[in-house]
Amino acid sequence: MLYIGIDLGTSSVKLLMMDEKGNIRNVVSREYPLSFPHPGWSEQNPEDWYRESIEGLKELTKDVDKSEIRGLSFGGQMHGLVILDENDEVIRPAILWNDGRTGKETRYLNEEIGQDKLATYTANIAFAGFTAPKILWVKNHEPWNFARIRKIMLPKDYLAYRLTGTFCTDVSDASGMLLLDVRNRCWSKEMLEICGITEEMLPKIYESYECVGTVRKEIADELGFTDHVVVAAGAGDNAAAAVGTGTVGDGGCNISMGTSGTIFIASKELVMDPHNAIHSFDHADGGYHLMACMLSAASCNKWWMEEILNTTEYAAEQAVIDKLGENHVFFLPYLMGERSPHNNPNARATFIGITMDTSRADMTQAVLEGVAFGLRDSFKVIRSLGIDVKTTKIVGGGAKSPLWRKMIANILNVNLEIPAIEEGPSMGGAMLAMVADGTYRDVQEAADAIVKIVATEYPDPELVKKYDECYAKFNELYPTIKPLFEKII
Ligand code: XUL
Repeated sequence: MLYIGIDLGTSSVKLLMMDEKGNIRNVVSREYPLSFPHPGWSEQNPEDWYRESIEGLKELTKDVDKSEIRGLSFGGQMHGLVILDENDEVIRPAILWNDGRTGKETRYLNEEIGQDKLATYTANIAFAGFTAPKILWVKNHEPWNFARIRKIMLPKDYLAYRLTGTFCTDVSDASGMLLLDVRNRCWSKEMLEICGITEEMLPKIYESYECVGTVRKEIADELGFTDHVVVAAGAGDNAAAAVGTGTVGDGGCNISMGTSGTIFIASKELVMDPHNAIHSFDHADGGYHLMACMLSAASCNKWWMEEILNTTEYAAEQAVIDKLGENHVFFLPYLMGERSPHNNPNARATFIGITMDTSRADMTQAVLEGVAFGLRDSFKVIRSLGIDVKTTKIVGGGAKSPLWRKMIANILNVNLEIPAIEEGPSMGGAMLAMVADGTYRDVQEAADAIVKIVATEYPDPELVKKYDECYAKFNELYPTIKPLFEKII
């Protein structure tokens, strides 16, 4: 039996096919464009997601007996606003999770509606990337588009809709819309009213591991699939990655180093940060989770390597970095503003501390360390909630670099467990499909059977001490420079 996980990411769609024991049969990735029409804006065309996913499915399954394919599901980039009109046409490009245009709408929600009310209705406050402020932005800036809205959905739910015809979402991804009553796993009537939308415009809510339908006949025919390939609702990419690393149940932690950098803590009960700097969302295993999200993680390194240094030789650039904990150059990683913990779409990336002897390697090191220090900012908040993380899993493109893993282990002072399969969200998607078709009783059972840890990166006390001193300096930079960000945007 074969299962497919589709990770609908920001730079590409990654597809994975595995059997029910977790043996990978194929992995395929297909890129699509990302546009930044204004500084701080970020958009994509949903048709690109669909086209590349279908092409990816063809490539992924070309050498297997397709009658073995039993199910598929998704991990999707979260928070993106996809709006459809009465003919199911996409009204405007999707506004993505790392788009910072909604400063005014976010302030309106947090200050005029009030953070206390938002937290009561949804267990969260507004962040610029969340979906509800984007709905208000369309209402305020594109009223002609707002008037045409009949369906509102998240990126992976657009794929599910095209593949199955079911207008659905799952609790983990829906949590990031600021429209869901996270505690009770239903839409918040108050939030719908605040946004001026109706419940008919929103998808039916499922648990991530529930079956929402099967692949539609005409698509199954095009792909050569049988007409009973089960589709599970899937999850937001971070919850799917957590499933893919076995971060389910209570207390486990997963760090995902993708375009964004997230810290994900699974929990059986709903836990809320009193200052709401960390998100409280539903988990794909039926429970809850806490999550911190920095908007630019592996993307900082990609930008620095490819846009600035004009190279793709990531390993060669990192090979010459040997003086960890001694860099006098710092990098603030706010290329798209910042979410956790600063909640500031106007924050900007910055190098500071450059001197005549600063080398290319020092700056590359500063970029990698700046992202790890950014993770530590959120870790500090998580630890302040009494959650003492000593060990965490790590996945994502950035986690493939041994140097970056070493920096993260020492800057956070945690043991980093490296799973055998690093394709977090797509693997989680495939596992959710296995639960949906009854191969496993629940997500925990699937994780126990499939997830394997192959190595652990331990912190070194000497280096932890050096990095504590560096972090103390990094920690002063953002509050000091913050007033300038407002002036330079
Ligand atoms: C999480 C978040 C990002 C995106 C990236 O809140 O915004 O991790 O899901 O794909």
